[in-house]
Amino acid sequence: MEAKAAAAEKAVEYIENGMTVGLGSGSTSYYAIRKIGERVSQGLRIRAVASSTQTASLARECRIRLTDLTAIDRIDITIDGADEVDKQLNLIKGGGGALLREKILAYNSRQTIIIVDDSKLVDILGKFPLPVEVAPFAVDLTLAQLKRFKIDLNIREVQKEKFITDNGNLIVDCHFSAIRDPEELNMKLLLIPGIIETGLFPHTPFTRVIVGYADGATQILGA
Ligand code: 5RP
Repeated sequence: MEAKAAAAEKAVEYIENGMTVGLGSGSTSYYAIRKIGERVSQGLRIRAVASSTQTASLARECRIRLTDLTAIDRIDITIDGADEVDKQLNLIKGGGGALLREKILAYNSRQTIIIVDDSKLVDILGKFPLPVEVAPFAVDLTLAQLKRFKIDLNIREVQKEKFITDNGNLIVDCHFSAIRDPEELNMKLLLIPGIIETGLFPHTPFTRVIVGYADGATQILGA
């Protein structure tokens, strides 16, 4: 079994009847959503909220009952991927550009399970460029503020077109190389007007990480 699928399938074991489930985005979450769909077809009764339009259409395809974020007051469990996980279980997310909704889901969940293959484990965050969601109408001013961190930056493009998030914003990928204090950097970035959210997810006690390995084994970190 693929490492990502192993982590995803282990995480889905935590879902129980009656739960409201947050669905992440990306290729590892894909396996989790498919597995949830399988369990739904076998009688599991849940409702779900999606972190992206792509995830919402996959969930519909898998016949998972979706509800709107405005229609719920709690999420029992969110299962989502990550781009980097450090030893303290701080994360970089947003490789797929869904970081704002992903962070809202994680923040409002009683528990969040992050699913990764072992290539995502790092000593220190930052080799993966940190995605930052930015309001498009003032992007140049926001970029000027980001340049004060003396880092390389680029506005994300897909096929030579600016990438637009599900929320109508831009993603600026920030090449920090080494992020020594994720919590502090997250707070500093959020103080810049025009930055809507960052892909830095400082560890919380409600988050655990399931790591999948190529031989199908899994390891649970945290909580
Ligand atoms: C999307 C995300 C993804 O969870 C992250 O990019 C990991 O993706 P993958 O599972 O494809 O490696 O944060 O915004």
